[in-house]
Amino acid sequence: MKIIPGPASKELGERIAELTRAEVVPVHFKTFPDGESYIRFEAESLLNEDAVIVQTTSPPQDERLVQLLLMADNAQDMKAKSITAVVPYFAYSRQDKRFLPGEALSVKTVVKMLENCGVSRMITVNAHNPAVLKMLKTPIEDLSAIPLLAEYFKEKGLVRNPLSLSLGKKAVSVAMEADGVLKSGYDYISTKRDVRTGNVTLEDKKLPVKKRDVIVFDDIISSGGTMAKAVKAVKDQGATKVYAACVHPLLTRDSQEKILENGAEEIIGTDCVQSPVSKVSVAPLIAKALI
Ligand code: R5P
Repeated sequence: MKIIPGPASKELGERIAELTRAEVVPVHFKTFPDGESYIRFEAESLLNEDAVIVQTTSPPQDERLVQLLLMADNAQDMKAKSITAVVPYFAYSRQDKRFLPGEALSVKTVVKMLENCGVSRMITVNAHNPAVLKMLKTPIEDLSAIPLLAEYFKEKGLVRNPLSLSLGKKAVSVAMEADGVLKSGYDYISTKRDVRTGNVTLEDKKLPVKKRDVIVFDDIISSGGTMAKAVKAVKDQGATKVYAACVHPLLTRDSQEKILENGAEEIIGTDCVQSPVSKVSVAPLIAKALI
């Protein structure tokens, strides 16, 4: 097995290579003045090798997606025996159904492009809707980083008797997973999404948070709006300390400030997306899936 750490996940790819004791194929990349991407592998052939490309597709997602396609097709041209794409944050997966007539189904389009470039297996982490991924032709394994995040809180002793909360009833399994590690109770914050604007509003729901430490778990923090509202709602109901935990800290614009201003002690994320809050590494999780 050869690990090919893409430009967006160089450190993570190298960590995975260390853990799996696999050789690394260094990748040279640049962006031409007109914005196009260039990729070169430091290898002459991948003949009979199982190639594992590690490339997250967080913003700038279009550029990172093109780099991933170039790497997969290159591995195919270099005669790799199999090509696995490890895509910790899977861009475009939030558009997983036609919410309104006429909408493009982006998750399907992206997977089709990867298949055409020779990808025979994919590994993602907490993809937005794993059920949709199962309908695609390419086998996709969706791993969960929630237990690793929960372990972090436990090991660091950041919270006492915490309540694990998910954002939305549909995601309550996330809170349950965290509680599998923290073992002091879980619940969900009730949410409602406007299909036209995508805006999320919180519905009134009494939560057992009074004088308790709380961790709000979500798959993604992007603008931070959803998490900031959740943190405030939980604080308003009398929680002592509130932490914001997420797998994919996209952290666009002023998201961090927004969440902290609304009362969060800290934001904890993973290296599915490298960011200042990426305190938890998913390398062991991915390495285990590869060996
Ligand atoms: C939504 O379905 C996701 O689980 C997240 O709650 C959402 O993507 C967060 O977005 P934002 O940070 O922009 O509110």
